[in-house]
Amino acid sequence: MKLMFEKFLLDKDDFERLYSQNVKNAATRYIASLLLGIVSTFWISFFLTDMDTSSSGVVAAMTLMSALALVTLGLLIFSVKTYFSKSLLKKMQSEAQNNSEWNVIFIVSSTWRTRNHGGLKQFLVEFNKAWQCDFLPHLPLDKNKTYEEQIGASELYIASLLNVPITSVQLNFICERTNVKFHIHDGKEKVIKYSFVNVIIVDQSSYTLKQMRKHFESKKSRRYWRTIEKLHEDINTVTNNFDVLKYIDELRGQIRDFSSEERFEVSNLKIIWNITKKCGYTCNICATHDDKREELSLEAKKAVLLSILVKRANINEIDFSGGDPLCCAENKAIIDIAQDFLGEDKVTITTTAKGIANLSAEEKEKYLINCELTFDIPPMAEGKENLRGSLEYYETNKEFIELDRDKIQDLQVNVPILDTGIVEPEIRDFIERIKKMAPSRITLIRLMPVGKTKFEKYPKNYNPAKIIQLFQDSFDDIYLNCALRVKYNTNEVCTMLREKIGIDCAGNVFACGWAGYICEDVDIGNNPFYLGNLIHQSFDEILNTDKARRISKGCDNTRGDCPIFSYLASGDMFNNSDPLVIKHQN
Ligand SMILES: C[S@@+](CC[C@H](N)C(=O)[O-])C[C@H]1O[C@@H](n2cnc3c(N)ncnc32)[C@H](O)[C@@H]1O
Ligand code: SF4
Ligand code: SF4
Repeated sequence: MKLMFEKFLLDKDDFERLYSQNVKNAATRYIASLLLGIVSTFWISFFLTDMDTSSSGVVAAMTLMSALALVTLGLLIFSVKTYFSKSLLKKMQSEAQNNSEWNVIFIVSSTWRTRNHGGLKQFLVEFNKAWQCDFLPHLPLDKNKTYEEQIGASELYIASLLNVPITSVQLNFICERTNVKFHIHDGKEKVIKYSFVNVIIVDQSSYTLKQMRKHFESKKSRRYWRTIEKLHEDINTVTNNFDVLKYIDELRGQIRDFSSEERFEVSNLKIIWNITKKCGYTCNICATHDDKREELSLEAKKAVLLSILVKRANINEIDFSGGDPLCCAENKAIIDIAQDFLGEDKVTITTTAKGIANLSAEEKEKYLINCELTFDIPPMAEGKENLRGSLEYYETNKEFIELDRDKIQDLQVNVPILDTGIVEPEIRDFIERIKKMAPSRITLIRLMPVGKTKFEKYPKNYNPAKIIQLFQDSFDDIYLNCALRVKYNTNEVCTMLREKIGIDCAGNVFACGWAGYICEDVDIGNNPFYLGNLIHQSFDEILNTDKARRISKGCDNTRGDCPIFSYLASGDMFNNSDPLVIKHQN
């Protein structure tokens, strides 16, 4: 558990330790005075027993005794009050606030393979006068603001320190650590929060690796390269900042070299983030169903978003999906940050009428700017259900649009082709209804063999050709989801990782959003589309793994086949064994 002081977090354990220490000190002082009061009263009375009670000395002693008794009583009341005092707690809170610091620590690292440096990981450090030792570049942050609000200032600081344009700097947030430290110089115990960020120079044209190395190797430079081992050898560094050295040791696996040379860069990426499992329906076909997956807390979701946003220059769109992102109120905080950083036009929400029903009128205005809603082609025959197992999903979405179409600014309609046996009049009737909704885009989706839809039970004779044709005849632009598109235009290749990527509710990243759910019974790490987890690795690191490069390269040969179907049919995602044969009917 953590206590919140404004926006600054302090570990409860640390706080309780400081609090009880303070209370104990105060109580000990009062109890000592109390005992002194009692002892001295007895002591005086001991001398009085043999004296003449009318003498002036006795009167004075009695007066002194009464005064001592009164003071003792007062102290007794005060020590009891202190023990239960709320005001002391408040004082402690404000003291903790005053005696706390928050610093962003910039990790600029590189592995020099030169004769002098022998391939060791080097860290950029600077000489700190107060501590008389080397330390990593750092910047104090404002405790009353969030980290997100201060990214710009951090980028500016490190860019000017490195003498590169701010647009060349990318800060990969790694983690936060909090520690209570005794400050030798201030003579005080302080709570220190560190936010560790890994600095990447994305545009090497402005500042080459060679120049950077040379610059910080020059004798005149205030900043230079050191290994962590070297920093451990310096007694002043260890005395002042042993905790930071220890954290960096722990984080080593997540630290990347600052150089972007030979990096695998994506651009115009669409991120499909199935941010929640929560949903108002229980569809039999649900593509993202997996009970075992553990959904992240709000704080962890924020950390995931920050990691993603580091690559914001490469992101074309984030689509919040699920489950239903609007069925879980705290997701709104995540969507807010995404909208602030990327702009509203780059954030889409794939939701349902039940999710939308949770929104107030103002929230509808904010969250229904770009909205994807789904409409199944309903079978008209009485009593006949679709593969989803219920018509409720279609009915509630339809009713919402009939009443509240104006609430959605940009409506994108998804039409999953679940049942390809639906007859022409039913399809034509459905198309007329879709026209009335005035969507900006219609996407036909192939039934995917993931989640609850098992490949083994995939409908035989699945052939969406007729339905696609009728839609194409009725609309100028019809989009086909990629698994259909590659089949229709066999020159097209799968664009996973180049144009899109998927994240699940636990922060796992997959080369394709659908592929995250191909094998419920298998460990996620064994899913061939799995790339990493954003709680343990940065987004940039995940995109740069050998596996990601291999998958992206493999896609070049997928003409006409969806790797998910290929994998499920043959165990190899790239051997083009997608079994779908689209039979065009006239
Ligand atoms: C995974 S859902 C999540 C968003 C939302 N809960 C919904 O269902 O509308 C995204 C889209 O995939 C559709 N879908 C679900 N399971 C599917 C499957 N097995 N094959 C094809 N589309 C599916 C949904 O109807 C929706 O259009
Ligand atoms: S398909 Fe969508 S609406 Fe249906 S259960 Fe899955 S997440 Fe919910
Ligand atoms: S694997 Fe299939 S569904 Fe995923 S991006 Fe490629 S073509 Fe599309």
